[in-house]
Amino acid sequence: MCGIIGYIGMDQAAPILLSGLEKLEYRGYDSAGIAVHNETGIQIVKATGRLKVLYNLTQGGASILGNAGIGHTRWGTHGESTDVNAHPHFNKDTSIAVVHNGIIENYIKLKKQLEAHGYKFLSQTDTEVIVQMLDYYYNGYPLETITKIMHFIEGSYALGIIFKNHPGEIYAVCKDSSLIVGQGSRGNFIASDVPAILKYTREICYLDNEDIVRLTDSGLTFYHNEEELKKAFVTVRMDLNAAEKGSYAHFMLKEMQEQPKAIADTMNPRLRDGSIVIKELGISDNKIRQIQKIYIVACGSAYHTGVTAKYIFEGLAQIPLEVDLASEFRYRNPILDRNTLVIVVSQSGETADSLAALRKAKANGGRVLGIVNVVESSIAREADNVMYTWAGPEIAVATTKAYSAQLIALYLLALKFSQVRGFLDAEKIACMVSNLQRLPEQISLLLSHKKDIQKIAHRYLKAEHIFFIGRGIDYGIALEGSLKLKEITYVHSEAYAAGELKHGTISLIENGRLVVAVLTQPFLYSKTISNIVEVKSRGAFVMAVTNVGNTEVEKVADYVIYIPETNLYFVNSLAVIPLQLFGYYLSIGKGLDVDKPRNLAKSVTVE
Ligand code: M6R
Repeated sequence: MCGIIGYIGMDQAAPILLSGLEKLEYRGYDSAGIAVHNETGIQIVKATGRLKVLYNLTQGGASILGNAGIGHTRWGTHGESTDVNAHPHFNKDTSIAVVHNGIIENYIKLKKQLEAHGYKFLSQTDTEVIVQMLDYYYNGYPLETITKIMHFIEGSYALGIIFKNHPGEIYAVCKDSSLIVGQGSRGNFIASDVPAILKYTREICYLDNEDIVRLTDSGLTFYHNEEELKKAFVTVRMDLNAAEKGSYAHFMLKEMQEQPKAIADTMNPRLRDGSIVIKELGISDNKIRQIQKIYIVACGSAYHTGVTAKYIFEGLAQIPLEVDLASEFRYRNPILDRNTLVIVVSQSGETADSLAALRKAKANGGRVLGIVNVVESSIAREADNVMYTWAGPEIAVATTKAYSAQLIALYLLALKFSQVRGFLDAEKIACMVSNLQRLPEQISLLLSHKKDIQKIAHRYLKAEHIFFIGRGIDYGIALEGSLKLKEITYVHSEAYAAGELKHGTISLIENGRLVVAVLTQPFLYSKTISNIVEVKSRGAFVMAVTNVGNTEVEKVADYVIYIPETNLYFVNSLAVIPLQLFGYYLSIGKGLDVDKPRNLAKSVTVE
């Protein structure tokens, strides 16, 4: 959730650290800081608020001289957003500085032990115990000291560390929290994520759990348990401009507009002459026939793709499918075997709960397929097989194009499974594939009507509660519409399976309350229409999203948004577009920072 960067080399470190932090700010943005080695020792500057505060404070880094340093952008877990709680943290004489992503779970116990040795703590963070422990055990040898404290700290961490007595070195280590190392022509880097250093190098090495790396301006040495080891570097091909906003007002707007391309890029390489070819699946047709149960495990919006996929897999491939939140799955005892497929869906590939769920699934004997957007991320590397969604870098905290690409990956899988298990013949598959191929153009059409959605959003700028209802796949769409809305507008919102509303929640419906009803499944139209009538009779204003031609809805809803015709299993991809736009326009209409909503971060690498 926090972003880490480190640089040592021929150039001034501070401007490089700040430019890296700018690319990492999506991971956390409540405060930021840098620590740079220079003649005076270690110079640390930190500031509460967005990175620009730190940028101004250091004149873009120009006021901090030195060729080696570490930086951090924070999403606080322990302690509010203050300068003191901001990273880097340091020991009493500022001879050691540390940046940390993760959570030290036994920090209270460690803190007490250190206090008993006379250590005083300045911050409320768990991170400070790391630097105080390094101070306590420091014997002049950073590698030995770091290895030693790793035996005592429990939890997850990616750390960047500098020692005043070792001015030509940076150390880094990670456990259950990812960290990359970059080798450039003018110096070496550590970072939480590739875009942070892409401007300087494409030669990347992914640290494995408990690897330690020592960086100097001319070399990199890797260790595991103090033993030196060789690590492989890969050349990343990511487009440097893909993570830029360009002429768009916001990343979210840009990413919504990129949805047609994201889904075409995810789908096209897997389509051959009207049939589905998923080479990376790594499961033979025979094995697909033997699968008895599928779990889809994920968090947030990625979980919502699973809610929709349940209906599709059960409908098309007749395989029982259970969807679970990764944070729940990881602490229960799911009954799995090699005929159980566990699909872990994640944009970042670093979500701590999803990664832990993946490990649980493997430990319990399941086979894991990752549907992941970030290439070589932890989930991608640890899954038995990985199917990438080719959405490109997603920067806005609220996911749009990655969500849409995940849906496409799941449709393709469901079609493949259905075909192999004999429920769909080649002709039906070809017909459904042609529906899939029309989605990009249909999404573009929906996006071109954004001004209409903006008008409705402006009517609801003062709404305090907004409800979303739907049945079946429409319930999955409602969940996503509601999450999108609440995370970027701070308006309270709930999504309900439409038939469930009357079991309690309908008591919250009163005059003028906005209810968004999704009706895309013809066999459920009349049922959801009854639910619309129920909320209308209690004074609700109803905005409906339905298929083109379903004009019946106009008799009961106050406002109707029509989506183009497609196969009924694929409607989510279309119906979600006006809901994303609605959230977006409500957020910017309220003057909020739509790309960086309060309290959130893009990559949730802590529990
Ligand atoms: O990176 P992941 O797909 O694993 O992230 C899962 C959720 O944190 C994410 O979808 C979150 O709910 C989004 N902010 C929703 O827009």
